[in-house]
Amino acid sequence: NTAIAYRAAMLDSLGDPAEIGLTDCIRYFEDGLMLVENGKISALGNAPDLLPQLPQGCEIKHYPNALITPGFIDTHIHYPQTGMIASYGEQLLDWLENYTFPAEQQFADRQHADEVADIFLTELLRNGTTTALVFGTVHPESVDALFSKAEQRNLRMIAGKVMMDRNAPEALTDTPRGSYEESKALIERWHGKGRLHYAVTPRFAPTSSAEQLDLAGQLLKEYDGLYMHTHLSENRSEIEWVKELFPQQNGYLDVYDHHQLLGERSVFAHGVYLCDEECARLSETGSAIAFCPTSNLFLGSGLFNLPQTEQHRVKVGLGTDVGAGTSFSILQTLNEAYKVMQLQGVRLHPYKSFYLATLGGARALQLDHQIGNLEPGSEADFVVLDYQATPLLSYRMAQTRSIEERLFVMMTLGDDRMIKHTFVMGEPVYNRD
Ligand code: GUN
Ligand code: FE
Repeated sequence: NTAIAYRAAMLDSLGDPAEIGLTDCIRYFEDGLMLVENGKISALGNAPDLLPQLPQGCEIKHYPNALITPGFIDTHIHYPQTGMIASYGEQLLDWLENYTFPAEQQFADRQHADEVADIFLTELLRNGTTTALVFGTVHPESVDALFSKAEQRNLRMIAGKVMMDRNAPEALTDTPRGSYEESKALIERWHGKGRLHYAVTPRFAPTSSAEQLDLAGQLLKEYDGLYMHTHLSENRSEIEWVKELFPQQNGYLDVYDHHQLLGERSVFAHGVYLCDEECARLSETGSAIAFCPTSNLFLGSGLFNLPQTEQHRVKVGLGTDVGAGTSFSILQTLNEAYKVMQLQGVRLHPYKSFYLATLGGARALQLDHQIGNLEPGSEADFVVLDYQATPLLSYRMAQTRSIEERLFVMMTLGDDRMIKHTFVMGEPVYNRD
C-alpha cells in the first residue's frame, strides 16, 4: 500500500505514429517522476512539477543515466522451445520435424515443463518483457506449469495448449474432441484468474483438421475474453501445403476465417505473405499480426511488409517467436526489424519501433489502458534501461543529442545487459546487478 516515486528520464508511447504523427506519438520527460501506489501508476510528470505534490514521506528512487519505459510486450513466443533456440540448418517445415517436435515431446513430463517454465519466465524478465502471448505444447500440463509460475510472479500472461490433430508425431497429436475438452478444462481453471488469460491455440492450419478448427471457433463463442493464437503465411512451402490441404478455401487466412477464428482477440504470427484482401479482412475483424523479424530471418521465411499492414490499419505487435526467433530481447528484435525494413527500402523510425514494443503490443492484445504505457491508472509494469550498460553503449550514448537518437542507439546496440531493473505491479522482479 506504500507509495513509491521513481525519478529518471521517462518515455512512453501515446499512439501509432502512422495514425497520429511523429510529434504526438511519444511522451518524454527528461527529468521525470512516476508515482506508484497499490501496483498501479498514479501520477506521471516532470519531477520539478510533481515533487511538491508527493505524499508525505514518500520514498523516491532515483536512476540517473537511465530511462524508464513500460515493460516490453512479446505478442508471439513458444516457451517449450526455450531449450532448442539456435538449432541449425533448416527452414520452417523441416525445422519443425527435426527440432521442434522432438523438443515438445518432452513436455509430457510435468517436472520438465515446470523447469522450463521457470527458466522461460526468468529470461523474459531479464529482457524487460513483462507480458507475452505464449504457445504451450499439446500437453495441458505444459500450460498448467506456465500459468502456475506466472501466477506466483503476478505476471500478465496469455497462453494456451496447442491443438494439433494431424501431420505431427503421434505423441504430439490430440483429437478434435479431446483438444476441445482439454482446452475447456484449462479455460475453467485459468482464464481470468488474476492477471492470466487463455488463448485457444491451434498450431497452424496444416496440423488441424477442419473439425478441430470448428471446435476452436466454438470455444471462442462459449467464453468471454478468450484469445485465439496461431500462425499464418510464414513460409512459401507452408502456404502451398495449406492450399493442398484446404482446396475449398480461398487462401490461408480464409481457412481460419471459415472456422470463425478471426476477431479482436485473435493474433496471427508472421503474415509475411499477405495480399491486400487478407490485410483488409484482418483489419475489418480487428485481428492482429505478430511481426517476428528474428524468426523470419533465421528460418529464411521472408520479409514482413509493415507498410502494407499499416495502410490497411491492421494491428501489429512484435514477437520474438523463440525458438525460431534468436533472442528473447525485444531490443534485439527491433534491431532486426529495422534491417528487415532496410532490405525493403523502408525506414523504421525509432518512435514506431518503440510503439510496436509497448503500446502497439498492448493494442494487439486488447490490453491498452492496462499495460503498454505509463498513463496514470495503468498497471505498474515497467523497466529501467541503463544507458551505461556496456562501454560501447555508454560511449555512443554520450554522442547523442535527442531522445530519438538515444532510442535508436538503444534498439541497435541494446540487449538484456541494458535491463537494469524490471518491475511488475510496482514490485521489483528482476535486478541485474
Ligand atoms: N508454424 C507452426 N508451428 C510453428 C512453430 O513452432 N514456430 C514457427 N516459427 N512457425 C510455426
Ligand atoms: Fe511461432
